[in-house]
Amino acid sequence: MTTAQTPVDLDVQPTPLALLLLGREADPRSERGVECPGDLPSPSDPDLVERARAAKEKLGDKVFVLGHHYQRDEVIQFADVTGDSFKLARDAAARPEAEYIVFCGVHFMAESADILTGDDQKVVLPDLAAGCSMADMATAEQVAECWDVLTEAGIAEQVVPVSYMNSSADIKAFTGKHGGTICTSSNAKRALDWAFEQGEKVLFLPDQHLGRNTAVRDMGMSLEDCVLYNPHKPNGGLTAEELRNAKMILWRGHCSVHGRFSIDSVNDVRERIPGVRVLVHPECKHEVVAAADEVGSTEYIIKALDAAPAGSKWAIGTELNLVRRLANAHPDKEIVFLDKTVCFCSTMNRIDLPHLVWALESLAEGNLVNRIEVDRETEQFAKLALERMLALP
Ligand code: 13P
Ligand code: SF4
Repeated sequence: MTTAQTPVDLDVQPTPLALLLLGREADPRSERGVECPGDLPSPSDPDLVERARAAKEKLGDKVFVLGHHYQRDEVIQFADVTGDSFKLARDAAARPEAEYIVFCGVHFMAESADILTGDDQKVVLPDLAAGCSMADMATAEQVAECWDVLTEAGIAEQVVPVSYMNSSADIKAFTGKHGGTICTSSNAKRALDWAFEQGEKVLFLPDQHLGRNTAVRDMGMSLEDCVLYNPHKPNGGLTAEELRNAKMILWRGHCSVHGRFSIDSVNDVRERIPGVRVLVHPECKHEVVAAADEVGSTEYIIKALDAAPAGSKWAIGTELNLVRRLANAHPDKEIVFLDKTVCFCSTMNRIDLPHLVWALESLAEGNLVNRIEVDRETEQFAKLALERMLALP
């Protein structure tokens, strides 16, 4: 996440200052990978756009470029399809003829694409350091320990795990192994409906906010039906009785980008722009979601603004690259960023034009770089969980 001072100018460019320098450093504790091994072109090379175009053209049908809605403009222009994480997972699975899937998004999305594509297809993440801080908040060891706590409390057999797409392949495999499903922000209610048909309780990983918002806002549960499992405390900081009384066991994880929006941001924008409609992503805190007019995934936000009448006013609570693009695409509507401070997803922003050019040119020269490959056993169980999601009604 990258922040700067008020007020928010939607024309501002993402700053790389807070990022690890061009993928040349690594955080070994995170789900994201290692250093970028390549010789990256300079960001000031005036031919970068032409070089990306030429390399893509040379690769032809062999390459399929996927772009998440939070990617930079300079990158999204080269995407064959754009989408939220659900749409991109489906699109990746529907392209068996492409030898290379270049994923302009973050590490967990590329892992999911590898799981859902054929063995002879290779998924490439242009910068291996494009991870996700939320996915890092649930490790395989912590989740295995949590399952032991649930077993000790005598409830493991009643619990169905539901894991947000924004989790590592290991967590998805755990979910598949224990009879659960994956969900995204566009199908979380359907996933929970399904899970409560299979069992009496849900362990929701790793985004507490999406879990709580879906349970309370969409499924009619109360806040008291939810407990928060803190992996950094013994027994998750919960008594066996608290676990037995809960319907939703929420993992203590969150998105550092959406977590910034506050009730003050909502009150402030309503004061500044009378008649504004507040539309936020369900990764926002519960009080923000409760104070908003509409809530939905990135794909929902895009459709809502497409359908909105000219002259309408909107404050959007999601990542800034997308909000800026939406504001540019709808000059007839007033579209502002919900918060006063600039807030890009710094890991999404790691995929920039130099990394994309480097990845495409390497592939065009026959060098497979930055491949994301999930091992067979993990893949087998993670695929089970992902396929349960894709089969949801
Ligand atoms: P969606 O793409 O499912 O809306 O999720 C948003 C997000 O945070 C992706 O990292
Ligand atoms: Fe992760 Fe949040 Fe960035 Fe999405 S926006 S990749 S959940 S940190």
